[in-house]
Amino acid sequence: MIEEITTISQEPKPDPIRHWLVTGCAGFIGSNLVETLLGRGQQVTGLDNFSTGFQYNLDQVEAAVGTEKWKNFRLIRGDIRDAGVCASACRGKEFVLHQAALGSVPRSVEDPLNTNENNISGFLNMLVAARDAQVKRFVYAASSSTYGDHPGLPKREDTIGRPLSPYAVTKYVNELYAKVFASTYGFKTIGLRYFNVFGKRQDPHGGYAAVIPLWFSSMIQEKPVFINGDGETSRDFCYIDNCVQANLNACLVADAAAADQVYNVAYGERTTLNELFYLIRDRVAKRYGNVAKIEPVYRDFRPGDVRHSLADISKARDLLGYRPGYSVEQGLDLAAEWYIDNL
Ligand SMILES: NC(=O)c1ccc[n+]([C@@H]2O[C@H](COP(=O)([O-])OP(=O)(O)OC[C@H]3O[C@@H](n4cnc5c(N)ncnc54)[C@H](O)[C@@H]3O)[C@@H](O)[C@H]2O)c1
Repeated sequence: MIEEITTISQEPKPDPIRHWLVTGCAGFIGSNLVETLLGRGQQVTGLDNFSTGFQYNLDQVEAAVGTEKWKNFRLIRGDIRDAGVCASACRGKEFVLHQAALGSVPRSVEDPLNTNENNISGFLNMLVAARDAQVKRFVYAASSSTYGDHPGLPKREDTIGRPLSPYAVTKYVNELYAKVFASTYGFKTIGLRYFNVFGKRQDPHGGYAAVIPLWFSSMIQEKPVFINGDGETSRDFCYIDNCVQANLNACLVADAAAADQVYNVAYGERTTLNELFYLIRDRVAKRYGNVAKIEPVYRDFRPGDVRHSLADISKARDLLGYRPGYSVEQGLDLAAEWYIDNL
């Protein structure tokens, strides 16, 4: 059973005010979590070292929520590799949404040590700090990369393969630590295996950009758009607001059986890269007519990438009350508006 944050009634009741910690608050998913929480009048502390996050993401959140609600935000500029920083960040918090990590499969292939330190040592610091602070719930960003080389579709939480990249190893180790913290210390967490989340503020720049922001950016600038492989690689793309909903439900769900679990967070539909190309092109072409003529440039498959990905989201639906409200097309409409206005 989900405890509703917002009650729809004749006299809407304000949300009870809680104190949340969002790590990775200056990044894509973290800044969207902060925006939603502040929008609902919550007290939020954000922790970030700005390695892949940006002050301008937080500036946008401030502009979106307004001065009054922004007063409920406190920023800690710090690093999760520092146990002391994690301890003071967790103190007095009810809920922790742990997003800070180094994303990207290719980045981990190039620099496995750095990925390991941020994603495993940093994660363990946060787990210890949250346990010691006795937070009510610790929800962390896991990843669909944990399914690795298992060919089965759709992906169900209890059946995984072998990891295909250093990044995937780190995300799986997070889950192993989380499980051991439940059995050893009775500290129960919730892991959310995100499947290709996209939407406003996802970084389009640099060599490690994800496919959707990269293609928006390339098309808007009329640069070539590359497809790695034959374009029939598929993904379960998930709009950011669905991901935010999963995080909030994971914190607020009352059912004790929902804790000490991992959940797929996706939309539950598969889109090939070829399909995605035309979905994005159609949207950008509405503003920039020339883009309608762009065709993709095919090149080699990328090492470490899985071929197909599709989630079974029934576990999140049943135990967390997760109801993704945005389809890929609806999400791309909103993302297109944002990229066109902001790039
Ligand atoms: N975006 C996706 O599709 C996706 C898919 C699966 C999993 N995830 C996971 O979701 C989380 C958020 O991803 P995102 O897409 O928002 O990435 P992002 O890079 O935009 O955000 C990550 C944030 O964490 C911060 N950070 C990194 N290392 C840190 C450290 N040592 N100390 C403090 N802050 C640190 C960065 O500065 C950044 O602001 C990550 O854990 C990522 O692995 C994302």
